[in-house]
Amino acid sequence: MRQLVIATHNPGKLKEFRPLLAPLGYALTSAGELSLPEPEETAGTFPGNARIKALAAAQASGLPALADDSGLSVAALGGGPGVYSARYAAGDYPGAFARLIAACAAADEWRARFTCALCLAQPDGATATYIGLAHGRIAPAPEGVGGFGYDPVFIPDGYTQTYAALGAAVKDAISHRAQAIAQLLAALSAR
Ligand code: IMP
Repeated sequence: MRQLVIATHNPGKLKEFRPLLAPLGYALTSAGELSLPEPEETAGTFPGNARIKALAAAQASGLPALADDSGLSVAALGGGPGVYSARYAAGDYPGAFARLIAACAAADEWRARFTCALCLAQPDGATATYIGLAHGRIAPAPEGVGGFGYDPVFIPDGYTQTYAALGAAVKDAISHRAQAIAQLLAALSAR
């Protein structure tokens, strides 16, 4: 069975990737499981950071590697925290939710979007990048216990509940990550 490294140390992302990538028929392992070093994400853009992580994992493991760089861009924060989403929370998601909601309330501007940039890198340095977007808004209060990260405060367009309250089946059908993976699967099946 062909192997693919998921270039993440984030257990929430890994859990989402497994079912979404099942159609590929790869044996999946992760940068965390292989104890690969985590490169610094210095590109300042989602696709740039995904490329850094995918190339680092492919070169360190000698296997194809798939990296995700993703985050939440909030209109009231001028598009932030964006690529700094993990750092904005600094492990305290309830605190980050309160700051986000306060900023949206102060600006009376609740629009937000998730971006997922996926990069598939080969050990020889070849890369391909795919981008998925999910538009929506910040919830006036956190809701739901599913998912990870900012899922309790993001309501995707066309829905009245947050990603966390909608649950994994709905999130996996519509999310920024699912959309990027659909493009990856289409590109791989066209080969
Ligand atoms: P990265 O590991 O640098 O790409 O950080 C991405 C961060 O963005 C995560 O740690 C979360 O805070 C946030 N994020 C990305 N995707 C999602 C998602 O699907 N739901 C909730 N938060 C997410």
